[in-house]
Amino acid sequence: MSFNKTIIITGGAGFIGSHVVRLFVNKYPNYRIVNLDVLTYAGNLENLKDIENKENYHFVKADIVDAEAMNAVFEEWRPDGIIHLAAESHVDRSIEDPSAFVRTNVIGTVNLLNSARAYWKDNMEGKRFYHVSTDEVYGTLGETGLFLETTSYDPNSPYSASKASSDHFVRAYGETYGMPYVITNCSNNYGPNQFPEKLVPLFIHNIVNNKSLPVYGDGKYTRDWLYVIDHAVAIDLVYHEGKNHETYNIGGFNEWQNIDLIKVLCAIMDRKLNRTEGDSEKLITYVKDRPGHDLRYAIDANKINKELGWKPSVTFEQGLEKTIDWYLQNAEWLESVTSGNYQDYYESMYSER
Ligand code: NAD
Ligand code: DAU
Repeated sequence: MSFNKTIIITGGAGFIGSHVVRLFVNKYPNYRIVNLDVLTYAGNLENLKDIENKENYHFVKADIVDAEAMNAVFEEWRPDGIIHLAAESHVDRSIEDPSAFVRTNVIGTVNLLNSARAYWKDNMEGKRFYHVSTDEVYGTLGETGLFLETTSYDPNSPYSASKASSDHFVRAYGETYGMPYVITNCSNNYGPNQFPEKLVPLFIHNIVNNKSLPVYGDGKYTRDWLYVIDHAVAIDLVYHEGKNHETYNIGGFNEWQNIDLIKVLCAIMDRKLNRTEGDSEKLITYVKDRPGHDLRYAIDANKINKELGWKPSVTFEQGLEKTIDWYLQNAEWLESVTSGNYQDYYESMYSER
């Protein structure tokens, strides 16, 4: 079979990456999709079982921190495009070990840029370096206002500082070497296959197991939530129709204070688990706050909406129901990712809070 395009998707075994890989493999049978992932604790090939035997799907186990390996991957697969999601992605872990975030998020991104530049140097026509970033690079909002694509960067955590740095490198390679890039900055994703260290899957897991729900600080922090498949659809759109050297913000138009979201989650879980109303809420425990905790994120997603016609397809209530159903129906997945050294992680993160 001949393919008319090859795209390398980095971090394709992770949460968002696996949904992007699935979308591209199924939607574009004439594209060769290469999932490049080193399989950290957050990467799991189980996420892609349903497409692993498709003819247009390939998996390459490699570390983006290894510059030579990245050059070799480019030589072997001759990509037309990169969709770069591989990263260390959890804020709490970045507070424990910032260096890992510098290595993967900054050096790894620069390695990919260098390989793309070397490999595409004679002809950048039709090539695309798509860098997937986060709204956290903009820092924190007060009670009002929204993040625009023109909002200044002001990162507060080692994670967001590393993502901001990688965004700057991508932009600099565009200005200096003519790298044909696009960047998207997205708000908080939720949905199937998210590692249970992040708020939504962690709390689902704890409710199922009757464990306490550790709410940081007073719980009055605000996030803008987007269903992961809506993010994947936006990435497809921007990959194909976004303009070179542009940034697009992606968000759910869906702000929630943590404590309100947690109460909605508890109520749905009581219903699904046939528990008495209010049972899950009793598990809420206020714990020591995250250092440097950003008060509020909220995205203005009007640019991608007006220019590319994207908007979220599911409401938060629909998305949350689908998400909870997925976790309840995939107990084995949760079991497998929480075995191994997950308990050590949980202990070290929460024992002193
Ligand atoms: P994740 O932690 O679930 O997955 C990251 C993936 O990258 C894993 O499969 C992991 O094995 C792989 N990886 C890590 N280090 C690597 C390395 N050195 N070489 C190769 N592969 C490596 O992350 P996610 O939540 O799916 O986030 C994906 C991307 O989207 C990240 O760049 C993140 O910053 C960004 N993002 C995430 C969110 C969110 O809410 N989760 C929101 C906006 C942007
Ligand atoms: O905004 C986009 C970002 O969203 C992504 O770039 C990150 O990769 C992703 O992890 C996410 O970052 P957050 O820090 O916002 O997500 P997290 O799920 O860790 O936390 C969401 C909120 O819930 C935050 O205010 C902290 C709070 N929280 C989190 C955990 C894990 C708790 O109160 N208790 C917890 O145990």
